[in-house]
Amino acid sequence: MSPAAMAVARGLALAALLVLCPAAARQARRPNVVLILTDDQDVCLGGMTPLKKTNALIAQMGITFLNAYVPSALCCPSRASILTGKYPHNHHVVNNTLEGNCSSKSWQKIQEPYTFPALLKTMCGYQTFFAGKYLNEYGAEDAGGVGHVPPGWSFWYALANMSLDFLEYKSNFEPFFMMISTPAPHSPWTAAPQYKKSFQNVSAPRNSNFNIHGKNKHWLIRQAKTPMTNSSIQFLDDAYRRRWQTLLSVDDLIEKLVKKLEFHGELDNTYIFYTSDNGFHTGQFSLPIDKRQLYEFDIKVPLLVRGPGIKPNQTNKMLVANIDLGPTILDIAGYDLNKTQMDGMSLLPLLRGDKNVTWRSDFLVEYQGEGYNGSDPTCPGLGPGVTHCFPDCVCEDSYNNTYACVRTLSTSWDLQYCEFDDREVFVEVYNLTADPHQINNIAKTIDQEILEKMNYRLMMLQSCSGATCRTPGVFDPGYRFDPRLMFSNHGVQARRFSAQSL
Ligand SMILES: *[C@@H]1O[C@H](CO)[C@@H](O)[C@H](O)[C@H]1NC(C)=O
Ligand SMILES: *[C@@H]1O[C@H](CO)[C@@H](O)[C@H](O)[C@H]1NC(C)=O
Ligand SMILES: *[C@@H]1O[C@H](CO)[C@@H](O)[C@H](O)[C@H]1NC(C)=O
Ligand SMILES: *[C@@H]1O[C@H](CO)[C@@H](O)[C@H](O)[C@H]1NC(C)=O
Ligand SMILES: *[C@@H]1O[C@H](CO)[C@@H](O)[C@H](O)[C@H]1NC(C)=O
Ligand SMILES: *[C@@H]1O[C@H](CO)[C@@H](O)[C@H](O)[C@H]1NC(C)=O
Ligand SMILES: *[C@@H]1O[C@H](CO)[C@@H](O)[C@H](O)[C@H]1NC(C)=O
Ligand SMILES: *[C@@H]1O[C@H](CO)[C@@H](O)[C@H](O)[C@H]1NC(C)=O
Ligand SMILES: *[C@@H]1O[C@H](CO)[C@@H](O)[C@H](O)[C@H]1NC(C)=O
Ligand SMILES: *[C@@H]1O[C@H](CO)[C@@H](O)[C@H](O)[C@H]1NC(C)=O
Ligand SMILES: *[C@@H]1O[C@H](CO)[C@@H](O)[C@H](O)[C@H]1NC(C)=O
Repeated sequence: MSPAAMAVARGLALAALLVLCPAAARQARRPNVVLILTDDQDVCLGGMTPLKKTNALIAQMGITFLNAYVPSALCCPSRASILTGKYPHNHHVVNNTLEGNCSSKSWQKIQEPYTFPALLKTMCGYQTFFAGKYLNEYGAEDAGGVGHVPPGWSFWYALANMSLDFLEYKSNFEPFFMMISTPAPHSPWTAAPQYKKSFQNVSAPRNSNFNIHGKNKHWLIRQAKTPMTNSSIQFLDDAYRRRWQTLLSVDDLIEKLVKKLEFHGELDNTYIFYTSDNGFHTGQFSLPIDKRQLYEFDIKVPLLVRGPGIKPNQTNKMLVANIDLGPTILDIAGYDLNKTQMDGMSLLPLLRGDKNVTWRSDFLVEYQGEGYNGSDPTCPGLGPGVTHCFPDCVCEDSYNNTYACVRTLSTSWDLQYCEFDDREVFVEVYNLTADPHQINNIAKTIDQEILEKMNYRLMMLQSCSGATCRTPGVFDPGYRFDPRLMFSNHGVQARRFSAQSL
């Protein structure tokens, strides 16, 4: 293209932006955004502790969300929620396999063009860069959680180098969006050589739900043996320590990235988000290691943000979810959110510290259990339908670990209501004000009226789409029971993999 043609093209592109992303197009320098997404990093069990530099460079320079969640505690459905800003029942990625729409052709055709990075690029003229793990590789984890042979520690440098190189060759005329998706602290926990000896004295926390039998819980939790075997405990302690070791490399990456942004004069004009795709457990309710459960340790994640207009050293207790990241980043870019079908809400008013922001008091958790139609050869006694079983036949998932929950959090309520799509139509309810470790299932003793309201609200959320996902919750003054919203577009469907079909 000749310089004149390039100038014309740039003019046309800018004209398009003024229409599509008007708010930001008016700004002299549109902000950049970096999203760092770790894999399986919990926040409830000390997952942020090893990240001292990240804490200083992001948390202390910005805001820490103390109640950040994912609707589905499994990599592919969770990542799909981040990219689309939607609940699983609206993006249709139900598990980590192609049949479950993970990277499937229909995902590529129906959802991917409307993900927030795609909109940033096509509508707002952002340069977009991606490094790390996207939506692939799944389903290969074997039962013990010990994955395939890793690319090894050098990947860290490659990842760091690639991301840092991008900052050298990017254009200075358009803002950029960078997504860095680290494989840490996912198995196989291969630490960089300099960190192989770190945290020698660290073991998994023995908190009050560690190695106890979840006797009032659903089938999958009841099958776990208590106390755990010594070898399981040794395995999970080792996993815990090695997860921390790999996080030290993430910490180094964050430091290099922030320094590089500063060197290029971009730091003050860049939002940096740090989060994880799901939490993790190590011995809770006697399940050795994994995610996939409805409890806080699996659905709660770290979320730190720094950037222009965000005051340092803040914490925020609002109930936020990973479906909010897409709307937030598009809002930063000036894109009109009313043009999207996203279920989440922009966090920008919270980031800016706006007064009197009306916020949600509940969100939906939905998960379709994985399980193989065939007996696990190591645990024939458990029958078909389970997966991720340990040598002592404690299994981390099953097809009937299929559930949906309303998680409510407001000034006076801290509750979780869950229904299972299993043979017992099992219900679990927790009052987290009294019982933060979710030890006592109060489904049988809670006030019937509250139970009924939560059940209706769950059905509404399982059928919601866009704005109807953001309606007031059961305990909000504006709550309205609307049966029309209940059965339109029902959420996660259990595969009819019932006793008869087995
Ligand atoms: C944030 O808080 C920490 C710990 O209190 C303090 O050391 C640091 O100087 C504060 N940072 C800013 C930017 O205020
Ligand atoms: C996969 O996505 C397509 C298109 O959104 C949908 O029709 C299909 O039901 C989904 N599959 C599953 C298993 O949810
Ligand atoms: C880039 O990678 C090489 C090894 O491949 C490593 O020695 C070097 O320190 C890395 N540079 C940065 C900036 O991470
Ligand atoms: C591990 O050792 C370090 C340094 O000796 C010490 O500061 C820390 O408290 C120890 N942690 C535990 C869990 O014992
Ligand atoms: C398991 O560990 C406990 C505590 O360390 C010990 O008392 C017990 O003997 C061990 N059991 C076996 C079978 O090794
Ligand atoms: C988006 O829709 C809401 C509700 O209808 C409206 O209040 C708001 O002004 C709209 N925003 C824009 C940028 O049009
Ligand atoms: C706060 O918001 C509510 C509802 O949006 C409104 O009625 C009230 O006047 C606002 N208060 C202030 C101080 O702005
Ligand atoms: C993933 O979901 C699809 C669609 O429901 C199902 O056919 C498949 O068996 C599931 N995979 C596993 C491992 O559960
Ligand atoms: C769940 O599935 C397992 C494995 O097939 C079965 O043994 C168990 O009875 C089922 N439980 C319920 C409540 O459906
Ligand atoms: C939850 O626990 C708190 C503190 O014990 C109590 O005040 C409240 O009534 C409980 N709520 C429900 C719904 O049980
Ligand atoms: C499970 O396998 C049996 C026997 O191979 C088959 O008849 C049944 O249809 C399968 N069920 C599902 C849900 O795939």
